[in-house]
Amino acid sequence: MKSSSLLTLLEDRRIHSGESLAQTLGISRTAVWKQIRRAISEGVEIRTVRGQGYQLISALDLLASERILKALPEPLHTVVNLDVLDAVDSTNAEVARRLTAGVEGVPVVVSDSQTAGRGRRGRQWVSPQGENLYLSLGLSIEGGFSALDGMSLVLGVAVSRALSTFGAMDVGLKWPNDLFYGDRKLGGILVEIQGELQDGVVQVIAGIGINVHMRQAETVDQPWTSLAEAWPDIVWTRNTLAAAIVSEVIKITAEFERQGFSSFREEWQARDIFFNQELVARDGGAQGMGAGIDATGNYQVDTADGRMAIRAGDISLRVRS
Ligand code: BTN
Repeated sequence: MKSSSLLTLLEDRRIHSGESLAQTLGISRTAVWKQIRRAISEGVEIRTVRGQGYQLISALDLLASERILKALPEPLHTVVNLDVLDAVDSTNAEVARRLTAGVEGVPVVVSDSQTAGRGRRGRQWVSPQGENLYLSLGLSIEGGFSALDGMSLVLGVAVSRALSTFGAMDVGLKWPNDLFYGDRKLGGILVEIQGELQDGVVQVIAGIGINVHMRQAETVDQPWTSLAEAWPDIVWTRNTLAAAIVSEVIKITAEFERQGFSSFREEWQARDIFFNQELVARDGGAQGMGAGIDATGNYQVDTADGRMAIRAGDISLRVRS
């Protein structure tokens, strides 16, 4: 958001004169007025107080790298290589570019909006400005490509753990790694691989999209909700949310490398929204009752011909309607 520095000044919700804003920003009063008009047209509630200036009248949730860093545990300050952007094609694509450029530490990119946000199975991820969290991390995982199926599920556990630190306890997981509240999607995780396998280490880009404040989105093609809608009594701020997720993801990645997937199985299972539901594979191949995941993270379906284990990425499952 170009007007974000103006909004940062207004964030204290006091009245600021056009002149003082112009001076601080080093622009003309007309330019301030244009930015105010633009922010109002983007839905920000600002009132003009005659003869005094401008006042922000509704809470804003602006992204700021220093606030994310402040909310991260101290030891991660030297590990995380954080960038907060106004707009980008896709935070996953940006992390891939940073990995190719050879950045130090764990690259983490958070953006206020995405112009080409991507979802699983080649879908688009609707990414309006200022409303949601679009975050990607570049992680090095030991254990080769076979570790990745489990890793994708473990990321769902990490994000659920992060949300529970704010009081959102009952987040559901839809195999392999969609985040749900009841029967509505709250967020999704896109895992992509970067480069070649080197000495058993894979570079993984973990992209996490969470609906935070979004109230309207005509182009989303499935039932969805947002954190603010599902838990209206919790104050959701994207900076603290980003910090909590980054911290849980880095912690869980280390646990996963040490212990493998099986120690997360029970925790994942407790959030399984497919369990005991009548399921059908989207390609029509399998049909049966959801029976949870096996020790490597495959989803088990009890079909008429016996138990069938489905590998993430092979078949997509849904509840039979
Ligand atoms: C899905 O459920 O289909 C996965 C959605 C993943 C969306 C996130 S938003 C941040 C990151 N950047 C992207 O382009 N996609 C992921």
